[in-house]
Amino acid sequence: MKSLYLPANLRLIRAAMPNFHALNMPIHRASTLTYPSAGSFLKRHERMLDGFSYGLYGTPTGKALEAQIAAIEGGEFSILLPSGLAAVTHPMLALLKQGDHVLLADCVYGPTRDLCTSLLARYGITHTFFPADAATIEPWLTCATKLVVLESPGSYTMEIQDITAIAAQAHRKSSLVLMDNAWGFGLINCFEHGVDIVSTSLSKYASGHSDVCMGACTVRDRKLYEKLKMSFINLGTGVGADDAYLVLRGLQTLPVRLAEHAKRAHQVAKWLTTQAHVAEVYIPSLEGDKQHTRFKRYFSGGNGVISLTLNEMSQSKIERFVDSLEHFQIGASWGGTHSLIALNDISGSRTSVPWNGSAWILRLHIGLEPLDVLLEDLERAFSTLTRE
Ligand SMILES: Cc1ncc(COP(=O)(O)O)c(C=O)c1O
Repeated sequence: MKSLYLPANLRLIRAAMPNFHALNMPIHRASTLTYPSAGSFLKRHERMLDGFSYGLYGTPTGKALEAQIAAIEGGEFSILLPSGLAAVTHPMLALLKQGDHVLLADCVYGPTRDLCTSLLARYGITHTFFPADAATIEPWLTCATKLVVLESPGSYTMEIQDITAIAAQAHRKSSLVLMDNAWGFGLINCFEHGVDIVSTSLSKYASGHSDVCMGACTVRDRKLYEKLKMSFINLGTGVGADDAYLVLRGLQTLPVRLAEHAKRAHQVAKWLTTQAHVAEVYIPSLEGDKQHTRFKRYFSGGNGVISLTLNEMSQSKIERFVDSLEHFQIGASWGGTHSLIALNDISGSRTSVPWNGSAWILRLHIGLEPLDVLLEDLERAFSTLTRE
């Protein structure tokens, strides 16, 4: 059968394109890119950093997204990765070598912790966790410390490190500082506080509809960008143009969505503090929260994430509470339009200072549904806790 995909057809389509001005960035899907000559093909590596050489290493859709992420984070160069987790772990793999030491806030995302205790340990890279709300890291910095990993607010427990002070201490020992900015994307310029690498999850508010997994790593320094990009190429990491398009589309409504999620989360959090079954509510943007002073120093606004603990400690009752919710769906991550709940026993995941709150943390993401529906759902679930 004769192929319909003849190069001549492609040339005709391309010739017609100057009259086609879509408002949005088109989706440029590609693995193979073609070259006009053998010589330009042999020199394709020269295009790896700033041009296009192979679909895995960048497409126009991906580059457009990288430019937007760099602008939002306040950096110069962004690199897309297949997940927010990869945006944290890949720089660690790129920058650390045998004998190096990495310091991490004790609240870091569980899989980041796991990377240190498994793969990095196997490669002879040591690690120490420091208190999640630290104002200083001096006691744990060594001459082997090459990277300090922050996460503010921390997963589930919402501690905020004193970023400026810690970054200055790290730099005095020639260590780089990486921030896992999954929570704060669009709400903080980490570079202004001394952070060198900002890693974020685009799976959350950036894409905004719970249907994309992606992350980005952003820096200001050209040499650091080159080192990271070349290492990510070595690791064979890239993203598809369809997903990049979805994130670009999500970013168009990011500020309005974030403001609306934050407004709703405040209302729910205030209501939660009046509920007899609630032991503690964790939402740093709310006045009265333990982290609120640092929050105001570093962040321009909040989002829809709230953590809470219950007075009820038994796992079976906590599971019953979660299972009885009809509107909140049970699931990890956050940032979409639908309200979510996740539960986690964090007692075993602290190694610097033992966690002294309730072990079971519930994390809510407040979506865009009518608030009375969400409050009724929570109220009904609380009533199950009084049953034996
Ligand atoms: C703090 C933090 N970092 C990284 C990630 C990973 O993001 P992704 O789901 O895009 O891999 C998450 C996910 O929940 C997170 O909470």
